[in-house]
Amino acid sequence: MSYPYQIQDKEGYFTSYEQSVNDPEGFWENVANSFLWRKKWDKVLEWDFKTPNIKWFLNAKLNITENCLDRHLENNGDDIAIIWEPNNPNDEVRKLTYKELHAEVCRFAHILKNNGVKKGDRICLYMGMIPELAIAVLACARIGAVHSVIFGGFSAKSIADRVIDANAEYIITCDGAYRGAKEIPLKSVVDDALTQCPFVKKVIVYERTGTSVSMIKDRDVWWDDEMQKVIESGLTDFPAEEMDSEDMLFILYTSGSTGKPKGVVHTCGGYMVYTTYSFVNVFQYKPGDVYFCTADVGWITGHSYIIYGPLAAGATGLMFEGVPTWPDAGRFWDITDKHKVNILYTAPTAIRSLMASGLEHVEKHDLRSLKVLGSVGEPINEEAWEWFHKYIGKGKCPIVDTWWQTETGGIMISNLAGVTPAKPAHATLPLPGIQPVLVDENGNEVEGNGVSGNLCIKFPWPSMIRTTYGDHERCRQTYFSTYENKYFTGDGCLRDEDGNYRITGRVDDVMNVSGHRIGTAEVENAINMHDGVIESAVVGYPHDVKGTGIYAFVITEHIHHDEDHARNDIAQTVARVIGPIAKPDKVQFVTGLPKTRSGKIMRRILRKIAEGNTDSLGDTSTLLDPAIVDEIIKGKV
Ligand code: WT7
Repeated sequence: MSYPYQIQDKEGYFTSYEQSVNDPEGFWENVANSFLWRKKWDKVLEWDFKTPNIKWFLNAKLNITENCLDRHLENNGDDIAIIWEPNNPNDEVRKLTYKELHAEVCRFAHILKNNGVKKGDRICLYMGMIPELAIAVLACARIGAVHSVIFGGFSAKSIADRVIDANAEYIITCDGAYRGAKEIPLKSVVDDALTQCPFVKKVIVYERTGTSVSMIKDRDVWWDDEMQKVIESGLTDFPAEEMDSEDMLFILYTSGSTGKPKGVVHTCGGYMVYTTYSFVNVFQYKPGDVYFCTADVGWITGHSYIIYGPLAAGATGLMFEGVPTWPDAGRFWDITDKHKVNILYTAPTAIRSLMASGLEHVEKHDLRSLKVLGSVGEPINEEAWEWFHKYIGKGKCPIVDTWWQTETGGIMISNLAGVTPAKPAHATLPLPGIQPVLVDENGNEVEGNGVSGNLCIKFPWPSMIRTTYGDHERCRQTYFSTYENKYFTGDGCLRDEDGNYRITGRVDDVMNVSGHRIGTAEVENAINMHDGVIESAVVGYPHDVKGTGIYAFVITEHIHHDEDHARNDIAQTVARVIGPIAKPDKVQFVTGLPKTRSGKIMRRILRKIAEGNTDSLGDTSTLLDPAIVDEIIKGKV
């Protein structure tokens, strides 16, 4: 593969950026020309941010899997597409060439078809990090079904909510998953979820752990049995469904400031072009490089930068089943040496946790294969940046700090490895095609450098969100109504004297816990389901490893056993309702909450208390009951 759109040097970046702003359609048309289309577009872009209505590559026809698989077969079919490192380092590594991956995807697409799946159907996937997850995702795309991957750490209730919202009649899961020393049940969690979803027609189960599972007659089938049938039938190729550029490719649920996660919708053409373009440019991928993204496919990073972007670029990607700390905190470095990883893309929370476990885990590794390091998910603090740079990159690897979101589909603001300069804790400059602006509280654009504001994007880019599934108005409300004619990111941001962007964090009621987005309202709803709880308020606070920890203030009418016991019980309820990732780190029992006379909780005050920053609480005189603040401060946990 060659990448005619790969930027070579700093001047090249500025030239591309300028072109992309002066002539966005010409710019993207040129990039899109190096992809495989069944039919090219009649028009590059149609948009308005009011409705919103965003369409890229209008009336173009394609199938993204022909770009990720088929087009590599002739010249690069024997290149490795996926190296799979199992949870247990002593188990066998699997390597799939592009030919093999293509064959597996085709076979599984036959399985989907045999089980009744048609173009446009929604399919929920709840699986561990095994190649079959990538195969299933691609098979959905090949047949034109809309995948909705649900992170393996979500609870039965979270699964049910998503299956119902997407009206998904098909589920693909595993018996269980290995994660570090733990064996996690998956099918039994799906079974619990499906008691609420009688409309589900088929559940396809891949056996990974061999744990015993219940298989419901006429509904549940084994992946392997179905595969056997396809192999016996002698069918190999599965002709890809022809998709319109704007047909839905997938739904991915993400939290917002309301209690209900929303289904972010991405479509085929623009998403393909932008994820590939950004992958090749940000990481400066060169054919033959081994690229390791440590994210889970359950999040957008896994969709865009484990599956679609790298595969469309014909890259060799490494997929890891386990966790960074098992068998010990040197696992990433062990994998890096074992597979001679050249590009490592991970998250600040992982860096901080490995940093805390000591240099002895790093020092016994060589790490000389590394060329480029990447960070994503939350602001990377300078200490973690320096450690990553010095001890992992040995001072010679550029670090790309990539800012983006589930909704943006691809990396928006980042330096380009070795091409544009890095600056610790700064995402730096927008990618070509991305037009960020900062706005003040009145919605006015803040111009010039050395300024701050809320981060918006004022022009469409190919991989942007198209709608929120089943509720377009919610999409408009959430992203396009705060500031006229702008996409609002929900992040606060600084622009330094040189024009580098530094994301400071969410400005809405969304927490970023270990790089995972969790809405405070969602956690409150879960806590309020706990026996005896009258009301709760949740805020984030600085946490050494997670970046943000979850602090819950809870009013309860009675406490079962003692307070510690009750805290654990509440955490258990949250794990049941949302998943273990949303468990509060701290629970403080209070008799009241600081509220305005109109009954609105003053989160600003609670946030300050949780941060331990009680000197600057600001004006509390407008509170309904100012005395409650002192009581809460005294009881801080
Ligand atoms: C939120 C999006 C993008 C994939 C992973 C998270 C924060 C993300 C950075 C970064 C500072 C970052 C933002 C953003 N964020 N990357 N490099 N520097 N903040 O996806 O769950 O959609 O969360 O993560 O606050 O809005 P997500």
